[in-house]
Amino acid sequence: MRQLTRPARRGILVVHVVTSVGWLGLTLGLLVLGITGATTASPQTQAAVYRSMKLFGDWLIIPLSLSALVSGLVLSLGTPWGLARHRWVYLKFWLTLGATLASALSLRPALNEAAASVATGDGVAAATSQDLLAAPIVSLSLYVFMTAISVLKPWGLTARGRRHRAARRTAGARTTAGVREAGAPRTPAVHDTGDQPPSTASIADTAKR
Ligand code: HEM
Repeated sequence: MRQLTRPARRGILVVHVVTSVGWLGLTLGLLVLGITGATTASPQTQAAVYRSMKLFGDWLIIPLSLSALVSGLVLSLGTPWGLARHRWVYLKFWLTLGATLASALSLRPALNEAAASVATGDGVAAATSQDLLAAPIVSLSLYVFMTAISVLKPWGLTARGRRHRAARRTAGARTTAGVREAGAPRTPAVHDTGDQPPSTASIADTAKR
């Protein structure tokens, strides 16, 4: 994929942070509702809780999770971060893919089932309310973890990232040697493209934005 221009990268980063952290906020709301649904003795409150959860499920879960995934993919493939070059990016990709699938294939059907039960006046089965409490606990922990690794960018390069960097350095050294042989002045042939060592990438990158 072609590298993003600076304004495009900044714009997509804003979309990425808004959607992915918005997904985290939505999960916090689902957790409050899930706790209330699992603990209330009032059938009216329970009905209101699961109807509200279904509304969030219908309107927000899939758009937010897909936007976080797609904007993250564009940022990875369109910048020197790469998709499989840095461990924190690669792990985020797989975790987000798993969370998106679990939301679509497990959480939403459970929300629909709970809302259908309260609509018919039946209470929600204990197992379903437990599931609808456990799901936001697990996903909230996951999104907090992903936010933390996004900001801290830990663990350095993957094996693929190390190979990529070595290849770039070799290509850079060859170009520099070629330029020197041709008698040109000693200017560096390889310019900084933002692909910094993992330990300094976040600092250098943040400073450039
Ligand atoms: C719930 C899921 C996600 C959350 C909470 C999240 C959160 C964030 C946050 C807060 C940042 C900004 C960090 C900073 O600028 O210091 C960020 C950046 C980034 N994220 Fe995510 N992200 C998620 C999913 C993904 C996915 C699935 C990918 C890749 C496939 C990804 C790739 C990236 C990349 C490459 C950056 C750095 C962009 C740049 O500096 O140009 N993210 N993410």
